[in-house]
Amino acid sequence: MTAPFASPRSPDHAVHAQFVERHSPRAFTDEALTEAELMILLEAARWAPSGSNTQPARFAYARRGEPEFARIAALLAPSNRLWAEKAAALVVIASQAEVVKDGVPTPQVSHAFDAGAAWMSLALQAHLRGWIAHAMGGFDKPAAAEALGLPPGHQLHVVVAIGRKGPAETLPDHLRPRETPSLRRPLAEVAGHGRFV
Ligand SMILES: Cc1cc2nc3c(=O)[nH]c(=O)nc-3n(C[C@H](O)[C@H](O)[C@H](O)COP(=O)(O)O)c2cc1C
Repeated sequence: MTAPFASPRSPDHAVHAQFVERHSPRAFTDEALTEAELMILLEAARWAPSGSNTQPARFAYARRGEPEFARIAALLAPSNRLWAEKAAALVVIASQAEVVKDGVPTPQVSHAFDAGAAWMSLALQAHLRGWIAHAMGGFDKPAAAEALGLPPGHQLHVVVAIGRKGPAETLPDHLRPRETPSLRRPLAEVAGHGRFV
């Protein structure tokens, strides 16, 4: 583990520390993630709620050193690949956007929302076990669909880089300032009493 950073984050209400302390740095140590540890993170995602319990979220994972890891890393936008290929594991998250009922393709209306819940469960479980989980929307989705065998009727969302937080000094200069946790809008800007603000 690296030295704690001076976080600018300060919650306005008495929220559990995990929600404020979880963040998305980019510097990783070279510590490996065991298959068993990765399964714990995916297990958390499996237990996420979903509309009508349809459980549309799907995952394709690989650990650093495996050929499948290189295949996923190659799909990342160069700006993401630069740091994310040093992660201990990569997890691609997709969701089943439609199911075929009586021969008719039917939308799973909440599939993206449900996949988001699964991502957050994974991220918080990772944080609770001392790992970083950093989501990236920047990857080649058509190429990923082909390379990873995305089934028909599914949509890709993110690739998640998972690893142990490393020193910011290991990053290129332009990324170092971004290791500082980001802030949030005030609650009153996003939550209104009885109507949207
Ligand atoms: C759907 C989604 C897509 C994202 N895509 C990228 C990305 O391509 N590259 C990147 O460096 N970070 C990416 N992020 C990370 C966000 O920038 C980050 O979560 C946000 O700035 C809030 O910071 P925090 O996670 O440290 O709290 C993504 C996050 C989400 C949820």
